[in-house]
Amino acid sequence: MQTDSSFTFVLFGGTGDLSMRKILPALFEAHRAGGMLADSGKIVAVARHAADRVEYLQWVNEHVKPHVSKNGVDEAAWTSFLARIEFVKIDLGNPEDFVQLRDAVRDLPGIRVFYLATGPSLFVPICHALASVGLNENARIVLEKPLGYDLKSSNAINDAVGEIFAEEQIYRIDHYLGKEPVQNLLALRFGNALFEPLWRREWVESIQITIAEELGVEARGDFYDNTGALRDMVQNHLLQLLSIVAMEPPHSMDSDSVRDEKLRVLRALKPIDPNEIGKVAVRGQYHAGGIRGTPVPGYVTEPGVKPDSTTETFVALKVEIENWRWAGVPFFLRTGKRLADRVAEIVVNFRPVPHSALGVSALRAGANRLVIRLQPNETIRLYCLAKQPGEGMNLASVHLDLAFDQFFREGQMEAYQRLLLDVINGRLALFVRRDEQEAAWRWVEPILNEWTASRKPPKPYAAGTWGPAAASAMLAQHGTCWLEEEN
Ligand code: BG6
Repeated sequence: MQTDSSFTFVLFGGTGDLSMRKILPALFEAHRAGGMLADSGKIVAVARHAADRVEYLQWVNEHVKPHVSKNGVDEAAWTSFLARIEFVKIDLGNPEDFVQLRDAVRDLPGIRVFYLATGPSLFVPICHALASVGLNENARIVLEKPLGYDLKSSNAINDAVGEIFAEEQIYRIDHYLGKEPVQNLLALRFGNALFEPLWRREWVESIQITIAEELGVEARGDFYDNTGALRDMVQNHLLQLLSIVAMEPPHSMDSDSVRDEKLRVLRALKPIDPNEIGKVAVRGQYHAGGIRGTPVPGYVTEPGVKPDSTTETFVALKVEIENWRWAGVPFFLRTGKRLADRVAEIVVNFRPVPHSALGVSALRAGANRLVIRLQPNETIRLYCLAKQPGEGMNLASVHLDLAFDQFFREGQMEAYQRLLLDVINGRLALFVRRDEQEAAWRWVEPILNEWTASRKPPKPYAAGTWGPAAASAMLAQHGTCWLEEEN
């Protein structure tokens, strides 16, 4: 991919965790690959915690370099990457400092990208300050999640940012949309006629979408304790995945066609009835346990977490989509920290054969199933039954496997790299539109409200397990179980 789109990439929160782990390493990879970033493109880091460019580059060397290229850094590329970086020291609380920023970027060529890798409370003041020095023109703005805390606060941010930037200038990041395997879901569904006739209520019994993490809250206890798994993972990543799994085929891959179809799914989600919440939603919180044999502390003793916290670190939900394609099919969503494994996958359970002449009912679990593993080790596995060799008609579960790293040995791109290149090149398809975000908040809010009102504590689970038993019981009511419970 050759590009001549020149750009000035202004990075607010230039010494933050996200800049260190994700954004600067992604920009470096794009730079190192050659041809993806225009030679004239500049990165202007904005931060408070460095005195000048020299000190900032020292910080980049010390903190960012360890996060790039696991197999060793290409030193020549690293040096030329540093040459792209400028620095402006700004106290975000002081709008006058933005005059310096304007002067620093005024003569730089190309589109301006303002990446707000800061807390959401700073989004609106930064936008106002940018507008006050005329920097909102010929510009794109990137907003990191969490975008608000609920529908009201997210609307307040969107309204305020929307007064300064038009919707097509606003790039709301959900990094799951930048992941290669998530893109592949679109390819699987809309590039192959094979699955389409089966992808509906007549043939699908249930669908599971899991994003499980082994990690706890790491250094983000304070943030996480005010957020919880529903806001951190369900409102965005899980509902985005759900909408891609369930959407109708878009008429093209342009940004609005795909986003229109996702929005239709989000709007068709069956509202949660507060009286039924105990049957369709499980919230959990981990206590001390062990991850692969290593003891780990419980959530309430993590730094930054209140000792009496009732924040959930696990959520499982039963979701229904009220449209002709999916009416009556349960979608089970699940996410949690400190679970037994790190895995993100989608399990499509097809209906069994209508009459079991071959005695397949005992083997139901191992057949008629598609498992799309998003991470780690991206694979698509189709389970079916085959005759066991030898006498008699004995069936066994077998699977057809597609392991992507064996098929495509090169060219994998990190989510952030893809998304940043899309911003620079003005491609909006993989960013969340305001109406999608609102629909997602609208759907999760009754759950949040009910959990807050009921004051019931989350159900405990030991770190290193698959979450509270209630999550399994919820599926059992529908005659099914989570994938790992079958293995
Ligand atoms: C982030 C959440 O959006 O996604 C984190 O804030 C979570 O809490 C992370 O750990 C998971 O992303 P990934 O790409 O590691 O699955």
